[in-house]
Amino acid sequence: MSDKPKFKRASEVIISELMLPSHSNFSGKIHGGYILSMMDSVAFACASKYSGFYCVTASVNTVDFLAPIEVGELVSMKAMVNYVGKSSMVIGIRVESENIQSGATKHCNSSYFTMVAKDDDGNTTDVPGLILESKEDVRRFLRSIERFKKKKERSSKYGADFKLEAHISELEGTNTRLLLS
Ligand SMILES: CC(C)(COP(=O)(O)OP(=O)(O)OC[C@H]1O[C@@H](n2cnc3c(N)ncnc32)[C@H](O)[C@@H]1OP(=O)(O)O)[C@@H](O)C(=O)NCCC(=O)NCCS
Repeated sequence: MSDKPKFKRASEVIISELMLPSHSNFSGKIHGGYILSMMDSVAFACASKYSGFYCVTASVNTVDFLAPIEVGELVSMKAMVNYVGKSSMVIGIRVESENIQSGATKHCNSSYFTMVAKDDDGNTTDVPGLILESKEDVRRFLRSIERFKKKKERSSKYGADFKLEAHISELEGTNTRLLLS
């Protein structure tokens, strides 16, 4: 880990953008893919600013679209480092959308992007440690570790050595028909 730990606020990036008709789908709502692309950009900016290295996206934790975003709304994304490992960082992003006429805001989604710092030769490189200043900082840090653990459990349970007999009963009550050849 690099010598000098940093404050979380050193990573904060906020972007806002007015949603244009060209960003919408046929039902007049903003494309989820457009929002994901904006989120990736803000995660990249946040991780790169914090680490001092250009970063790549290693993984994206679940993105649940909680509310549709309309054309003409102002979308704001706030990104902050939640966790740092050796070369990786988890960037928490909160997405809100504002009706600029009424001022009403809604929470559209929150997600977690794992970004990895790379040096000029393309090798992964150490990032600064994170100074945790509050109970909330500790909670977010530990929650990231918990997410990693859950992900590991998931991929080992349904990995390449998946045993059909051990899991077949899990299909009960699902909307499927088993037609194994
Ligand atoms: C992500 C990437 C840098 C990992 O490289 P690697 O050689 O496997 O590196 P390592 O195994 O040394 O892992 C480096 C760090 O990345 C983390 N990491 C690797 N794969 C990860 C994944 N899928 N999800 C979350 N973190 C991951 C490791 O936990 C490690 O973290 P740490 O240093 O904090 O302990 C590499 O796979 C890569 O460059 N992927 C492509 C990224 C990219 O192009 N993104 C844009 C997609 S269009």
